[in-house]
Amino acid sequence: MENCILICYYLVINTKLESMKIFSGIRPTGDIHIGNYIGSLKRWVEIQDEEDCIFCVVDWHAITTPYEAKTLQKNIFDLATTYLAAGIDPNKCTYFVQSQVKEHAELAWLLGTTIPVGELQRMTQFKDKSLKHKDNITAGLLNYPILMAADILLYNAEAVPIGKDQKQHLELTRDTAERFNSKYGNTFVIPEPIIPEQGATIMSLSDPEKKMSKSDNGKGSISLFEDPDSIMTKLMSATTDSDKDIRFDAENKKGISNLLTIYSVFSKKSVKDIENEFSGKGYGDFKKATAELLIESLRPIREKKKEYEKNPDYIWSELEKGANKARKIAEETMKKARVNMGLK
Ligand code: AMP
Ligand code: TRP
Repeated sequence: MENCILICYYLVINTKLESMKIFSGIRPTGDIHIGNYIGSLKRWVEIQDEEDCIFCVVDWHAITTPYEAKTLQKNIFDLATTYLAAGIDPNKCTYFVQSQVKEHAELAWLLGTTIPVGELQRMTQFKDKSLKHKDNITAGLLNYPILMAADILLYNAEAVPIGKDQKQHLELTRDTAERFNSKYGNTFVIPEPIIPEQGATIMSLSDPEKKMSKSDNGKGSISLFEDPDSIMTKLMSATTDSDKDIRFDAENKKGISNLLTIYSVFSKKSVKDIENEFSGKGYGDFKKATAELLIESLRPIREKKKEYEKNPDYIWSELEKGANKARKIAEETMKKARVNMGLK
């Protein structure tokens, strides 16, 4: 018996020693959609058991594009309850709101002094968002990736689960860490991206040439909390092609391929098996089956969110506990970064 306890203890310690440090975040900018869920949140839930995870509500990122000050706290609360409803467990990971740990801003300032402005201007997301908000291109929008680099580097994260659209920002983070380390001495861990093989980018249902996005709250995007009737309507009117085959072809059949990806992620079946299952059936049947699968898969998340919403004290207190834990790690990294840069 004693031996068995010792072995178990050893295994627990050993697993902990071998676990990877993970950091990721989502902006509290309104309802999250199934693209965010598949590209990011779903993966977080899957890895929280084995890895040493920090998941953040990145509110300072949310204010880099126009927003309503009056609804920001509600959006933060909504996203924090969404994390838990999707399966994030605050006992297994660190869970907090970015602005509660001021070190993010301090490190972003220090890193900003090492990053050439041209690198920031080249970021695809900066270019896209500048076009969208032509009359409000702020320094905050340009500096967005510096803050993201600070988020990741503060916690010595070795890996960052993200959708494909954030890959460029992660490359900038890596370059920044490498440049800093070679100029000021070894300070930061160089992080790797974790991008899902499947569903790295979920496309809009109405225009499968474009990625599903929060700003597209019409027919193209499905919120994680969309009501069943609306899921059915949006799926049934999803843009497909004039062909008949339910076959994956990301080049020529973007709409159907996107639906196959969504179906595959939620059913855990391979695309090949789904193609076989629906061979000889029409697009209408497949769209209906995809809608039904989504409705059933999202139901428990929707129900859990309602339960968590009834208990805001619990949510805010877990976030505060998480911020206290995060701050301890952030303070250590900041000390090192300051000293290496010749500051006190
Ligand atoms: P954001 O809402 O921009 O903060 O995004 C949160 C996470 O969702 C990031 O990791 C993104 O890469 C991911 N994401 C956003 N849109 C999509 C999409 N259409 N498909 C897959 N992942 C996405
Ligand atoms: N920029 C990310 C997005 O828009 C959100 C984000 C901010 C993030 N800081 C991060 C993601 C750190 C991963 C790690 O999706």
